[in-house]
Amino acid sequence: MGKSYIKRHVVMLLSALLLCGTGTASAEDELDCLLCHKYRGLSRIDENGKFRLFYINEVIFKEGPHVRIKCADCHQDIKKIPHDPAKKVECTTECHLIEPSGQKNFSHKPVADLLAKSVHGKLDAEGKPKKDQQDYPGCKDCHEEPLYRPLSFFKGKSSGVSERGLARCQTCHRTGDFAESFYKHVTSRLRKMRDPKEIVGICAKCHGDKEFQQRHKLDDVVTSYKETYHYKALLFGSQETPDCTDCHVVKGEGVHFIESKKSPTAASNKKNIPTTCRTSECHEKAGEKLAGYQVHVTYDKDKYPLQHYMLVFFTWLTAGVLYFFLTLIFLELLRRLFPHYSFVKSPDDDRHSAG
Ligand code: HEC
Ligand code: HEC
Ligand code: HEC
Ligand code: HEC
Ligand code: HEC
Ligand code: HEC
Repeated sequence: MGKSYIKRHVVMLLSALLLCGTGTASAEDELDCLLCHKYRGLSRIDENGKFRLFYINEVIFKEGPHVRIKCADCHQDIKKIPHDPAKKVECTTECHLIEPSGQKNFSHKPVADLLAKSVHGKLDAEGKPKKDQQDYPGCKDCHEEPLYRPLSFFKGKSSGVSERGLARCQTCHRTGDFAESFYKHVTSRLRKMRDPKEIVGICAKCHGDKEFQQRHKLDDVVTSYKETYHYKALLFGSQETPDCTDCHVVKGEGVHFIESKKSPTAASNKKNIPTTCRTSECHEKAGEKLAGYQVHVTYDKDKYPLQHYMLVFFTWLTAGVLYFFLTLIFLELLRRLFPHYSFVKSPDDDRHSAG
């Protein structure tokens, strides 16, 4: 009760600010959200005791992919001020932008459709919900929107933007930020936007979890991948070596179309592995033999007997060699410390003691 009292007061205080400050910001579609949401302190503890931050950092918002979208295009339930508690935003909501190739209002629905027919879709082939619904990722599980967190301010500019490249556009497109925004739009999408290590982290949220693996009878693919050369190269800063998506996204499809290796079109299906490896950025001349390359090898005796016994053999071999030479060194050391000591008494010594 105390909390809602404070809440109401904050809203009232801020709406008073709004009314005194600008008398005009009340036209329904032009609600100036940042008028209130630009304040860093706009936050409260919610009913479950969780801290909620309602502050929107304008600088970050302008750097982000949604800069051309009005707040109310996504938060469609907010129509008056002071406003009621907001509903969750659906990522498939249509916005006011028109996508030029189709001349239709833009929405992420095609992504949602692709995701739905991938192995990550929540429904099975007959349209029934799959078991363990909570394990199937929604948009926000993978795209945790960092815009709203002040710390992401330190994230830096999007990759691919170069001042020199941009200057070439500005030869002709001279006014405003036309060239800059289109240049960014295109260049930032020519390669991955996220660091490959970050993508591995996204997949590991589920696939690296022990209980998840048991529920779905999957191996610990994250650990096995991290043991490969590919991941080690990423750690050394390579951007070309493959992360999870490079090997699992069906060729020619959007990054959201991942299939089980059992599907004949899957990138990880035995038949397709050579084609998956054979891209201009990776192993351009890869032959059919590459299909034998196993990424997710574990040392499980039944699944990977060869690897299991190799591991056992090499463990014993290393230990054997090590202990054999350690023993030799130890005996050598003893001889040097006690040059005249002997376990077996020689006949000479016997004679002396007898005499
Ligand atoms: C008069 C000041 C003011 C304006 C203008 C304003 N807000 Fe808010 N907004 C608030 C306050 C205060 C809260 C925190 C309310 C609370 O305690 O739940 C809030 C909370 C929110 C929340 C989270 C609410 C929840 O229940 O999860 C969203 C989303 C939101 N605002 C979006 C918007 C959008 C979009 C606009 C513009 C269309 C807007 N706000 C304009 C003051 C304002
Ligand atoms: C592309 C869509 C989109 C746009 C544009 C957008 N938001 Fe949001 N906003 C979201 C999503 C998604 C969330 C996460 C909560 C949810 O799932 O509904 C969110 C959450 C919020 C929250 C609540 C944070 C919390 O912890 O609950 C506030 C406040 C907010 N937005 C305000 C704004 C304001 C102000 C603007 C304009 C400057 C804006 N949003 C523009 C999609 C959007
Ligand atoms: C030599 C001059 C010149 C340079 C350099 C140039 N442009 Fe253009 N650009 C034009 C002209 C002229 C048009 C319009 C004619 C047309 O549509 O073919 C145009 C059209 C465009 C359009 C389409 C606009 C629309 O609404 O249809 C975009 C986007 C664009 N340029 C972006 C860029 C970017 C990004 C760069 C730098 C990588 C660039 N341009 C470099 C001359 C140039
Ligand atoms: C399993 C994780 C996952 C889920 C679930 C997911 N995405 Fe993505 N998404 C990614 C990855 C990874 C990328 C590529 C990032 C990069 O290239 O930096 C991406 C890229 C994108 C892009 C950029 C365009 C592209 O295809 O490269 C958009 C837009 C997008 N996702 C929207 C969505 C929407 C909307 C949803 C929900 C319907 C969704 N995503 C669900 C992982 C996911
Ligand atoms: C929110 C949890 C979640 C995230 C995040 C996630 N997955 Fe999955 N993944 C699942 C579930 C659930 C299945 C289905 C397992 C089953 O069939 O029981 C699955 C299945 C798969 C399969 C097929 C396994 C099989 O059955 O052969 C692949 C490949 C896969 N995911 C790759 C990825 C990649 C790559 C990423 C990161 C871009 C990712 N996943 C992110 C939950 C997730
Ligand atoms: C170099 C390519 C490559 C990379 C990188 C890669 N995988 Fe795989 N993955 C494969 C291949 C090929 C298979 C199918 C053959 C096998 O099971 O070894 C597979 C199988 C899988 C399976 C299914 C296992 C099963 O039992 O059906 C999952 C889930 C999976 N990968 C997830 C991931 C995740 C998550 C990552 C990132 C941490 C990743 N993969 C990185 C190539 C790759």
